[in-house]
Amino acid sequence: MAGIHIDSTDRKQAALELESYRQQLEVLVRERTQQLEEKNELLQAEIFGRNQIEKELRMSREQLRTLASRLLTAREEERIGIAREIHDVLAQELTRLKFDLSWLQRRVTQPGNKLETELLLERIFGMGQVVDTAIRSVQKIATDLRPAVLDSLGLCAAIEWMARDFQTRSGIICRANVPREEPPIDRNAATAIFRILQESLTNVLRHADADSVDILLQQEEDHLLFIVRDNGKGIAPGSINNPLSIGLTGMRERALLLGGRFTIHGQAGICTVIEVRLPLSNHKDVTGEMS
Ligand SMILES: Nc1ncnc2c1ncn2[C@@H]1O[C@H](COP(=O)(O)OP(=O)(O)OP(=O)(O)O)[C@@H](O)[C@H]1O
Ligand SMILES: [Mg+2]
Repeated sequence: MAGIHIDSTDRKQAALELESYRQQLEVLVRERTQQLEEKNELLQAEIFGRNQIEKELRMSREQLRTLASRLLTAREEERIGIAREIHDVLAQELTRLKFDLSWLQRRVTQPGNKLETELLLERIFGMGQVVDTAIRSVQKIATDLRPAVLDSLGLCAAIEWMARDFQTRSGIICRANVPREEPPIDRNAATAIFRILQESLTNVLRHADADSVDILLQQEEDHLLFIVRDNGKGIAPGSINNPLSIGLTGMRERALLLGGRFTIHGQAGICTVIEVRLPLSNHKDVTGEMS
């Protein structure tokens, strides 16, 4: 009887132990499964992240390609514009002058031709006017390519000149607030600011529907601040970071190349503001001298 009793107690004990092992094993399996699931989730997130980065890389490569080709087209269009101006305006004026000169020559050299002083004077006066127009055309073409005032009088005077010229041509009020002394920047920085101003004013004329523009150039402690603000309809947020906006991209690139910052923002129906900050310490010549 005692043996039987021990046997059944042992079996019970063994069964209990077995059950406890089974339970421990189950906990272990559950824990391991959870760990694996977590690892799996992490892996999935990593794969998703990588795919996302790859997609973004592909997109930015595509944007770069489009941008490069648009830049080429823009340069080509600029050349076409200059060629058209030379061909349609200057060439026409010179042709007219040549025609008048031949007429004069015939009048003067034809034997027996009575010189009608009044007619001749009228013709010569007309020729003088054509020469004046041609001179103005040449000046305009040259100014569009690079305004002499920027090199001869400096950035502040060039900005004031540009504001006056813009106001006269467009009828949009244009105020320029520039420092009395020329800020210590080199030729590249001055050119960049001038070109940014040119593009901003062209944009105001083409897109803003504004009746006034305010330009500010101000020397801050360690940087130069340049602001162009118009009171037009306000740039749409979608246009701001669109890589296909060549004008804006060009302005941003000019600022970045000089270690500066470019921002543009708008308020619907109120304004568009362009802000450029160029670090002053960077604006040294290759010789290391401040210009
Ligand atoms: N001052 C502004 N007011 C309102 N919208 C503006 C202004 N400046 C720019 N925009 C908007 O931003 C867009 C992008 O300007 P951006 O100068 O890059 O291109 P664009 O003037 O259309 O062409 P381009 O490449 O010849 O300069 C414009 O098409 C216009 O919709
Ligand atoms: Mg533009």
